[in-house]
Amino acid sequence: MGLVIGGISIDPPLVLAPMAGVTNHAFRVMCKRAGGCGLVSTEMFSAYAIKFRDPGTKTMIDWTEEERPVCAQVFGGDPDTVAIGAKALQDAGADLVDVNMGCPVPKVVRSGSGAALLKDLPRAKDILVAAREAVSVPLTVKMRLGWRQDEMVAVNLAQIAEKCGVDAITVHGRYATQSYSDKADWSAIAAVKRSVEIPVIANGDIATPEDALRAFEITGCDGLMIGRAARGDPWIFRRISHYLSTGEKLPEPTPVERLRAAIVHAELLCRIHGERRAAKEMRGHLVHYIKGVMGAASLRNRIMKTESMEELLQVLREALESLDESVAEQASAAKD
Ligand SMILES: Cc1cc2nc3c(=O)[nH]c(=O)nc-3n(C[C@H](O)[C@H](O)[C@H](O)COP(=O)(O)O)c2cc1C
Repeated sequence: MGLVIGGISIDPPLVLAPMAGVTNHAFRVMCKRAGGCGLVSTEMFSAYAIKFRDPGTKTMIDWTEEERPVCAQVFGGDPDTVAIGAKALQDAGADLVDVNMGCPVPKVVRSGSGAALLKDLPRAKDILVAAREAVSVPLTVKMRLGWRQDEMVAVNLAQIAEKCGVDAITVHGRYATQSYSDKADWSAIAAVKRSVEIPVIANGDIATPEDALRAFEITGCDGLMIGRAARGDPWIFRRISHYLSTGEKLPEPTPVERLRAAIVHAELLCRIHGERRAAKEMRGHLVHYIKGVMGAASLRNRIMKTESMEELLQVLREALESLDESVAEQASAAKD
């Protein structure tokens, strides 16, 4: 088993999913440092924003050497614009460029981008031809199964992509109209895998090492992509990778480890966003980091009431201190 995309080895074959508002530099670094993540994805970049030089988009081009290889994702509904976006991401140093053909968010679909392309395969093809011409780095496509349930186009689109010279495909096993309801259909992903020679990465509802093993078995895919399960748990890749190679389960992160990681994450966010924006974004991450931490409900309330990063870090440090004390007490009680 091994995942090689256009000559780039992705080892372990586990990919952090692109998640808008989540997978910026800080989060990618957390996953990378925790180990086991073979490839990180950026948030999606609007090709239109790149074309019209939106300065906000420029600040999202924030990857560093320690994250490599990095896959930068672009979305757009028009071939020339996507080509400009893809080329700009390559020029900014992306190791791979991915075209989004799965995002069902109305704002994205309205511009004919993302999942809208599942309803217009000729345009999807034109976009891939243009993107392929524009970049020399490996090119990938991330798609859902189709627009509407029972109208599966992923096999067709995967074959089109392969003919256009795309180097790998990621399939999220849901239809656009399903959003996140129902379970991801891994057997449908298997059908896509069987239909092409290029690597296929399976995505959707992989949340534990056992899920990962089953997803590999059912889909026959070359790699797995993990999104939501990594929120508040950047160690998920390491646990999955270890389980796949040894059959052994590593322990889940302890509450102390979770809180320590949350503090590091918050500090990294401050560096890229400044304190105000970092504090706002960090509240969203903390809901996940404090899952399973003793007194999570009251801790969450305290976190939500904080008004600055300084206050937020203070609450986290106090929570950590009280956990450290209770761990020390337990250890000494065990000795007695
Ligand atoms: C908050 C959030 C933001 C997302 N943003 C993107 C995105 O920018 N591009 C994309 O292709 N998919 C995006 N997705 C979809 C994920 O990449 C992934 O396909 C989906 O969450 C299913 O995988 P999972 O079950 O492992 O989370 C996003 C998902 C979430 C939860």
